[in-house]
Amino acid sequence: MIDGKKVLFSGMQATGTLTLGNYLGALQNWVKLSDEYECFYSVVDLHSITVRQEPAELRKRARNLLTLYIAAGLNPEKNCIYYQSHVSGHAELSWILNCFTYMGELNRMTQYKDKAAKHADNINAGLFTYPVLMAADILLYQTDVVPVGNDQLQHLEITRDIAQRFNAIYGDVFTIPEPYIGKQGARIMSLQEPTKKMSKSDENANASVYLLDKPDDIMRKFKRAVTDSEGVIAYNDNQPGVRNLLDIYCSCKGITPDEAVKEFDGKGYAELKTAVGETVVSVLKPVQDEFERLGKDKAYIDGIIKANAEKANYFATKTLRKVQKKVGFPERIR
Ligand code: TRP
Repeated sequence: MIDGKKVLFSGMQATGTLTLGNYLGALQNWVKLSDEYECFYSVVDLHSITVRQEPAELRKRARNLLTLYIAAGLNPEKNCIYYQSHVSGHAELSWILNCFTYMGELNRMTQYKDKAAKHADNINAGLFTYPVLMAADILLYQTDVVPVGNDQLQHLEITRDIAQRFNAIYGDVFTIPEPYIGKQGARIMSLQEPTKKMSKSDENANASVYLLDKPDDIMRKFKRAVTDSEGVIAYNDNQPGVRNLLDIYCSCKGITPDEAVKEFDGKGYAELKTAVGETVVSVLKPVQDEFERLGKDKAYIDGIIKANAEKANYFATKTLRKVQKKVGFPERIR
């Protein structure tokens, strides 16, 4: 609890450019949660170097991501929006938690197995202990809730296991975090292979809509979206392409699939694609405009970065000192 509010933590990696899926599935919900919780939204750059990055590119993307958090509507004076690498407590706690995590547990992580297969030439120890760093992120702020996608639930589970193990030895040190289960954002799928999640790193340029895509590109991608040969606009498992278009439409408009199906009754796929494209363009426009405006205000963003790094450090250090003392590190002499 901070000031009577429950603590919420989440983060995104600055690898790739954010997609419409990241926006409708996560970012848009973060904004809604920010009144109810004391929120920490991190740009998790320490996680990013588990795969090779081009330094200048990583730095630029991290700044863009942080700016996008704000452009999407997160008030940086209420929400702690910061770079993970600016708070050394993440790495320090991560080391300690490594010593409370078993190889066998980490070996079971499906994301590790996937990434190791994908980057067979660079299966580094960081890739393996990635979930421990994520546990440190969460536990450092005594987090109550973590909004995450399904692909991260296993990491949240191991976080809870590590925290419970630590608490069992040393007393109530860590708050045990819960996944945020509320109205989750829609799961947005690829426009080209609608049974696959829309991804930041899809090789097919038409598969993902990016947050900063120009209107013409957005319209083109929707016009080329894969549908089916049923010819009827309905919401079901047999028409994943159409269902995905409807999901996107519903998320943008805040309506239900039933309402959307009614709206498109008797219409064809071309009309559906145009309507969804236009809706997405209009939803992204204010975010893009704000991103552009903020990009020009270097001093403002720098001020946010500085102030929020201090705020995050303050809370992180509180937990870290407690943990260091518990495990037996010597007291600091001041
Ligand atoms: N691993 C998460 C992802 O790739 C990002 C992340 C890092 C995160 N630390 C976190 C998410 C802590 C939630 C809480 O999506």
